[in-house]
Amino acid sequence: MADTAKLEIGGKKFEFPIVEGTEGDLGIDITSLRATTGYITLDEGYKNTGSCQSDITYLDGEKGILKYRGFSIEDLAENSRFVETAFLLINGNLPTKDQLDRFKTNMNSFTDIPIGLKSILDQFPVSAHPMCVISTAFSTMPAFYPEFCKEELAQEEQERLIALLMAQAKNISSYFYRRTKGQDPVRSKEVMSYAGDFLNMMFHKTGVDVNEDVASALDTLLLLHADHEQNCSTASVKMVGSSKTNVFTAISAGMGALWGKLHGGANQAVLEMLETIQQDDSDYKKYIAKAKDKNDPFRLMGFGHRVYKNFDPRAKIIKKACDTILDKLGVEDPLLDIAQGLSEEALSDPYFVERNLYPNVDFYSGIIYRALGIPTDMFTVMFVIGRLPGWFAQWKEMTDNPSSKICRPRQVYTGEVSRNYSPLSSR
Ligand code: SDX
Repeated sequence: MADTAKLEIGGKKFEFPIVEGTEGDLGIDITSLRATTGYITLDEGYKNTGSCQSDITYLDGEKGILKYRGFSIEDLAENSRFVETAFLLINGNLPTKDQLDRFKTNMNSFTDIPIGLKSILDQFPVSAHPMCVISTAFSTMPAFYPEFCKEELAQEEQERLIALLMAQAKNISSYFYRRTKGQDPVRSKEVMSYAGDFLNMMFHKTGVDVNEDVASALDTLLLLHADHEQNCSTASVKMVGSSKTNVFTAISAGMGALWGKLHGGANQAVLEMLETIQQDDSDYKKYIAKAKDKNDPFRLMGFGHRVYKNFDPRAKIIKKACDTILDKLGVEDPLLDIAQGLSEEALSDPYFVERNLYPNVDFYSGIIYRALGIPTDMFTVMFVIGRLPGWFAQWKEMTDNPSSKICRPRQVYTGEVSRNYSPLSSR
């Protein structure tokens, strides 16, 4: 492998260092590009641009590989649980029993929503989209937790902060859901697993225990969503966080990015797409044709990915979990059949094959959430709950790095060059 990249512009030669990652991924370090050449790069959507070097998550889009801190997603989905994997992402190693107990104890110390925040939540119309509610709630947290808005947080304060974020995500989302149903809130129960406690806080029925299979399926889904290197919402958390604002504000910005249907909002969009197809005689071939038609804005939601040009490994695990949980629950969901048919049709169609478009993490997740009783407009909130540890881990890696800089991309200006002011009367 060459150790420098050579660039020739107008007869002048320049060299830039090559950076090789531990998995063999390669980058050209152009930190000195503008100073030495006077040029910047242009890269619409940052398809070819790395924003950082990171130790947290590795993915190989061509091979469909995803690893958290060197552990394969398959290994973790099989053997770990969401809270343990959250600790791994944030701290770099699997926790000891004491560390895991301390993490859970910290989370259990945030079982109440601050009273002032509750009154804010109560101002929302019950028709409000839950993503609007949770992103607003997180952006108001500096008012209720100013102690976590200092520039320097000690290790113990950071441990309590991630516990707060994960606990309040559960509290706020279940509180607002039950309010839309006219039901009283249900307090978190320390003895339950994170996923089981969330389901109890959402759907508690006196005398009815949480179904352990359902809780386990949800725990796996949360684990699979926990991080995904420099995706749009994580990049948003880091972009906002790079100005040294507080983590609540940075994470609220990430929620805003995730809500978009091209990103985390796709899980809700997939379900709505499948329901539309179902109402249209389940004619999924018609929608494949629409997705291929350049004059039709319709896209196959849950298909394609900026990085994966092969099967999203999470989609494979989720599809398997989908079959298992629907079988265990005795649920026959016609939408699953439509999704299956759509996927098989697309995967054998040259349009999708030539563009390396495969099912992504959002394609089957909505079908499981629906089977677990999660309302469709809360699917992206479930993505938030799962992704919180990854956002925090990536924000922590950036803010712990003394040489990290404020993010400020450049541009090539293509507007008017020189104009003189004209008085209003002459316009
Ligand atoms: C997530 O980045 C991450 O890691 C994200 C994520 C995470 O964990 O954080 O994995 C979560 O966001 C998953 C993606 C969820 N979004 C969707 O399912 C929405 C549907 N997918 C697309 O909109 C699209 O595939 C994107 C947004 C996911 C990726 O878009 P890109 O990389 O910008 O690719 P593109 O738009 O340039 O498309 C390339 C070609 C185009 O055709 P041509 O112009 O070459 O003829 O593929 C076509 C596109 O029209 N195409 C699709 C398509 N996706 C791409 N055509 C039909 N249906 C689709 N879904």
